[in-house]
Amino acid sequence: MPQVTRCDCRKAEMAERCWANARIPRRYEHCSLADFDIHFPGADSSLAKARLAAGRFVEEYPVESTGLMLIGPVGVGKTHLAVGILRELAEKGIPGLFYDYRELLKEIQNSYNPSVQTTELAILRPVFEAEVLALDELGAVKPTEWVWDTVSHILNTRYNNKRTTIITTNFRDLPPGSLEPELTAARRAARDETLGDRIGERMRSRLSEMCRKVEMTGGDFRQKVQSADFR
Ligand SMILES: Nc1ncnc2c1ncn2[C@@H]1O[C@H](COP(=O)(O)OP(=O)(O)O)[C@@H](O)[C@H]1O
Ligand SMILES: [Mg+2]
Repeated sequence: MPQVTRCDCRKAEMAERCWANARIPRRYEHCSLADFDIHFPGADSSLAKARLAAGRFVEEYPVESTGLMLIGPVGVGKTHLAVGILRELAEKGIPGLFYDYRELLKEIQNSYNPSVQTTELAILRPVFEAEVLALDELGAVKPTEWVWDTVSHILNTRYNNKRTTIITTNFRDLPPGSLEPELTAARRAARDETLGDRIGERMRSRLSEMCRKVEMTGGDFRQKVQSADFR
């Protein structure tokens, strides 16, 4: 009799442990690459390309360990794909960690409070050491010097240790101040910002070494779901 059972069982246990330790928010627990729809009305070809890139990343990792940066407006499924990647990596026994950027910065800030029993390093260590980190909504915190220092610390540490990072962001991958310079000052004050504006140009260019860019443009899946609900 082939001795497959114990080995399969170990694999399944390992996969479960990887998934359980990945800190996936409940809202996204259902997400997988297989159920990422690319055919709903309004979906454009960028979604099919993004799903393909996600699947290829999982297949090729760890031989090819460059991360992905999923860029696009709210609702196109960036977080869904990032979680889908972590799910499939977990199935291969590769541990990952999910962190919302805002949540992470808040936890770090909170650790400075003397009445809180945790330290900055206790929060950062797993983020530094995660084999694959999915950092969701990069840039979504209003930039300050502290935010820039913190994001540099995280990204530089992962870069130096050759760790793989999956990024999602709503901000366009452009240098600071590059959007619509012809606008009047008043309108410019409220202009869309770029990733360079939000995390600084040095970290934006560091990311271009750490991640392959995947642009997701068309089709808000939630609108489709909402209109289907009304039918
Ligand atoms: N193409 C898709 N197929 C299936 N579900 C999707 C798709 N795009 C988005 N969703 C679902 O819609 C919701 C919003 O997607 P999300 O990944 O949060 O978008 P984003 O991170 O780009 O703002 C999630 O519940 C997600 O599972
Ligand atoms: Mg998201």
